Amino acid sequence: MTLLLGLFDSGLGGLTVLRKVNQLYPHSPCLYLGDTARVPYGTRSPDEIRAIAAEVVRWLRWQGVGVLLMACNTSNALALDVAVAEAGVPVLGLIDSVASVISSDRVGVLATPATARSGAYRRAIHASRPDALVIEVGCPEFVPLIEAGHRFSPELRRAALAYIAPLLAAAVDTVVLGCTHYPLLRPLLTELLPAGVVLVDPAEAAAERLGPLLGSLGEAPEVERQGESVVPAVQRSRLCVTGCPDSFATGAEDWLGHRPSVERVELRSTAGAF
Ligand code: DGL
Repeated sequence: MTLLLGLFDSGLGGLTVLRKVNQLYPHSPCLYLGDTARVPYGTRSPDEIRAIAAEVVRWLRWQGVGVLLMACNTSNALALDVAVAEAGVPVLGLIDSVASVISSDRVGVLATPATARSGAYRRAIHASRPDALVIEVGCPEFVPLIEAGHRFSPELRRAALAYIAPLLAAAVDTVVLGCTHYPLLRPLLTELLPAGVVLVDPAEAAAERLGPLLGSLGEAPEVERQGESVVPAVQRSRLCVTGCPDSFATGAEDWLGHRPSVERVELRSTAGAF
């Protein structure tokens, strides 16, 4: 039997993770939940983030997922233990995958305010590079602007310049995209950061780790690196949201390369508990 992979995020961001998973494991079926009724997560309190994660993970469990990949750094930073307790299946996060791909001692981390405040990336990087300078910057404006369709707007550019200022001042040479929405800003950040600064997307390392995990569960995912099967795999994924399916489909289009079909689902309290 083929295991269903469950992924969730507050909105579009986790699609950057889904795409990598589809590229590497084109034969693994995926269920993606974008909790768009409650986006953004990253300006919420830790208690809210944990309560939301419990509910979302419970819903994914009811849908029968066999492995959970947290496609949301904010939930990963504040509620990994909640996800593990609720999932009843193996859970893979993004943040502890990062250490294996950092090869610098001057690292910047762009993340949501909640993730930055948690210090989760600093701890993960220090676990393997205890002397590294790690500067975490919370970027409250990014997710709302990205969800609203901005990619190169003056507002986004202004916000990005302010967020990277401390990283430039510290002369970091590596910047971790510590929120799954931010790979969508790669072109803008590449333009604004000095040449040679390496942008790290933790989803790449996390997606690589999924293969051995699936193997240990008796699955033998055929690894696909050439990308020929990307479109069919993405189209086979079931995409669900708690908010408006049409606006999600529109936002997802430029990232997935096609307009996906999107279902609206009701979790128990998306009607307004938060
Ligand atoms: N994309 C998510 C993350 O990786 C959540 C962003 C948000 O909703 O603030 O943190």
